[in-house]
Amino acid sequence: MSNRIIIAIDGTSSTGKSTLAKRISKKLNYIYIDSGAMYRALTFYAIKKKYISTSHFDKFKLINDIPNISIDFRNNPENNNFEVHLNGVPYEINIRSLEVSNLVSEIATIDELRKQMVNVQHFLGNSKGVIMDGRDIGTVVFPNAELKFFLEATTELRAKRRFDELFLVDRNITYDQVLDNIKLRDNQDTNRKHSPLKKANDAILINTDNLTLDELELQLFSYINPLILKNL
Ligand code: CDP
Repeated sequence: MSNRIIIAIDGTSSTGKSTLAKRISKKLNYIYIDSGAMYRALTFYAIKKKYISTSHFDKFKLINDIPNISIDFRNNPENNNFEVHLNGVPYEINIRSLEVSNLVSEIATIDELRKQMVNVQHFLGNSKGVIMDGRDIGTVVFPNAELKFFLEATTELRAKRRFDELFLVDRNITYDQVLDNIKLRDNQDTNRKHSPLKKANDAILINTDNLTLDELELQLFSYINPLILKNL
């Protein structure tokens, strides 16, 4: 029996999901898939095509354009990470902007787009040995994942973490802008009709407020190791 499993990590923004998933994937030699990057890449595309802005959203133009949009992941040999590509082009930096963050949860409400993304996610999960983070991985994408985590932390702490990250690349950004964005997305992600953010019944709840990344990693491995050994 293969000892490679699927690990799903869901939770709200800036709870450390992607940092932990990346660290764990390197230690296990698993593929790490950042499913949020897919919705961010779609948003970047919709902004470029002028389908969406802060004042309008032409949902149907975007839906009609779906056949022309291809999202996949390719290895970046410089850091050995799987990075999102939109129509063959890497946009890892562009998709992290506040402009994209402010519109992404609106884009993520569209069921037609979500279905396409889930197809890609299923394809990537086929080979097992995958760790994927997002909002609906344990509930919708891989409801049978061998291991599911749900990460949470207070809103203010999450905003502080994300602000510290973004301020390094954009000195004009303010803490309040980041806090507003996190509150907006929490609300949209939790209350949308399709695949809302919620903890799967069988997910392990981890509060990240008072723990360092090293401590969190240890905690996650305390669940991962026995499962991997059991599947040997
Ligand atoms: O990095 P952060 O946790 O702030 O967000 P992300 O993982 O990059 O996801 C950006 C947005 O994409 C989320 O706020 C959701 O609106 C959407 N998303 C989703 O709907 N389903 C997923 N599986 C992943 C992200």
